[in-house]
Amino acid sequence: MNFKEAAGVQAADVVTSGMKVGLGTGSTVYYTILELGRRMKEEGLQFTGVPTSEATEKLALELGIPLAELWELEPLDVTIDGADEVSDSLDLIKGGGAAHFREKMVATVSKRLVIVADESKAVAKLGAFTVPVEVAVYGWRSTARRVEAEGCVAVRRERSGEPVRTDNGNYILDCDFGLIVDPGAVDRRLKSLLGVLETGLFVGMADTVYVAGPQGVRVLK
Ligand code: 5RP
Repeated sequence: MNFKEAAGVQAADVVTSGMKVGLGTGSTVYYTILELGRRMKEEGLQFTGVPTSEATEKLALELGIPLAELWELEPLDVTIDGADEVSDSLDLIKGGGAAHFREKMVATVSKRLVIVADESKAVAKLGAFTVPVEVAVYGWRSTARRVEAEGCVAVRRERSGEPVRTDNGNYILDCDFGLIVDPGAVDRRLKSLLGVLETGLFVGMADTVYVAGPQGVRVLK
């Protein structure tokens, strides 16, 4: 079992029958979703999921997991999701998979946010990973200028020479702030800018983090 799988599978234990569960996005929570699908089939676990991306929706449907819209189920009992960085104080950078807008919406209406990650994601302070910022396509160059005035270098995310579009049809700016001393302040400043839709800074949101490494799975609270 690799580290991502170890963290992802163990965190699935937080789900019990009858729960309303936010299903995150990425290659770590993928294992959580597989495990929930297995428990559903083999152990009779019953729950309803709210997916945070089209990729997760597709996976959940393939596994036969019942899904609903966020507005139908909120508040959710728990959301389980991955992260690109987890700080000592459990603040997060998310959005490496360009899904942080929906992930933040789902996490915000969840009673608990559980994060799954391998050891490489654990840092003392955030900032080695660039902060993904979802921006409107219209006027994105102006938005990028405003974002850079906050003290970063902002690069529009591209794949094979084409701009990446989120599930919401928007662009992502990957913003290098260097070490982030006050992630809450950076998040608030970015969110106040015209054209910025959401940032990948999740500050004070995570309740529990499962971090897997060579010594096993550590549970941080
Ligand atoms: C997607 C995310 C993911 O949770 C994050 O990128 C971690 O992904 P992985 O588990 O594949 O490393 O925020 O927007």
